[in-house]
Amino acid sequence: MNSENKNYTQPMLRENALADKIIVVTGGGTGLGKAMSAYFSELGAKVAIASRKLETLEKTAGEISGKTGNEVLAVQCDVTSYDDVENMFATVKEKLGSANVLVNNAAGNFISPTERLSHRAFDKIVDIVLRGSYNATLAFGKEKIAEKISGSILNIVTTYAWTGSAFVVPSAVSKAGVLAMTRSLAVEWAKYGIRTNAIAPGPFPTKGAWERLVPKEYQDKFDFAKKVPLRRVGEHQELANLAAYLVSDFSAYINGEVITIDGGEWLQGAGQFNILQMIPPEMWDNIERQIRSLKKKE
Ligand code: HXC
Ligand code: NAP
Repeated sequence: MNSENKNYTQPMLRENALADKIIVVTGGGTGLGKAMSAYFSELGAKVAIASRKLETLEKTAGEISGKTGNEVLAVQCDVTSYDDVENMFATVKEKLGSANVLVNNAAGNFISPTERLSHRAFDKIVDIVLRGSYNATLAFGKEKIAEKISGSILNIVTTYAWTGSAFVVPSAVSKAGVLAMTRSLAVEWAKYGIRTNAIAPGPFPTKGAWERLVPKEYQDKFDFAKKVPLRRVGEHQELANLAAYLVSDFSAYINGEVITIDGGEWLQGAGQFNILQMIPPEMWDNIERQIRSLKKKE
């Protein structure tokens, strides 16, 4: 059965499940941000997509609203600038109404041995991922609290936010910070009716990530599907399904959670004996005999 026939490539929530939502998705013009925005719009939300490249945003907004018939607003915004972020929320408020959901999805990343990075390169990634996420979160939170509007924040992190990872250190440092922010604000802002959650995706092929993280010469070795116990990479719709649930009222009691959607990838790297997956089934009889025979010798 090919993946098109699988339920995980199908939209999950019922029609108009997000009809009362006004959702800002940073980095919503491409990749996973685009997939989430498209599904939010399909479920009836008004969506604003915000990033640096207006042309890309406008193309995506037109594409999505052409399919769903719902309004999608493209707003140019560099999340590293607090002024830009405040202006973006003001534009959203004026054109769509006050946002009640923020998805911090914008990111920058590339692989490099850390000692090769200039301090500016390190700053750049931290600025986009960590500063960008807290800029948007702070502006959104202040607005909701002042307006007495409840809402929710969804942060897109990674599994190496808690394991760390070599060769993407600025990204790992930043995602760890975003995860700490998620758990901290889940408690602090709950009294204002603001829930804060995160998704940690495993490998979901996108142009933006793959061009910067998978060296062409090593594409075979980098076959992410082989690193995943379920032996496949993620489908954008299954991530969009999870995101839609987490920003919907169906998840009203989920707060401060980080949900991993990686087919078991990070745990495969963690378990001490997971490497034994390489042993073919027919060898286990022999191994068992060897171990059992120890008893007779002792
Ligand atoms: C070393 C590099 C470099 C490289 C850039 N720099 N690329 N250093 N190796 N490959 C340095 C530059 O020389 C400069 O430092 C500094 O970084 C800033 O680079 P600019 O090109 O001036 O920045 P800018 O044009 O703003 O571009 C930002 C970017 C770019 C992050 C470098 O890649 C970008 O726009 N990315 C956005 C999309 C993206 O990254 N998507 C992937 C997300 S995937 P100097 O010292 O020269 O001034 C993800 C999760 C992955 O996050 C998990 C997958 C499983
Ligand atoms: P992507 O398509 O490259 O998305 C990154 C987005 O961030 C782009 O739309 C980019 O738009 C925006 N962006 C970058 N710098 C910005 C800035 N300064 N201000 C505003 N927007 C900015 O990559 P992706 O794979 O979809 O990644 C989306 C999210 O998923 C990221 O948080 C990433 O860390 C996370 N993730 C992805 C994977 C995966 O396998 N793909 C795995 C784990 C986590 P502009 O260039 O227009 O600014």
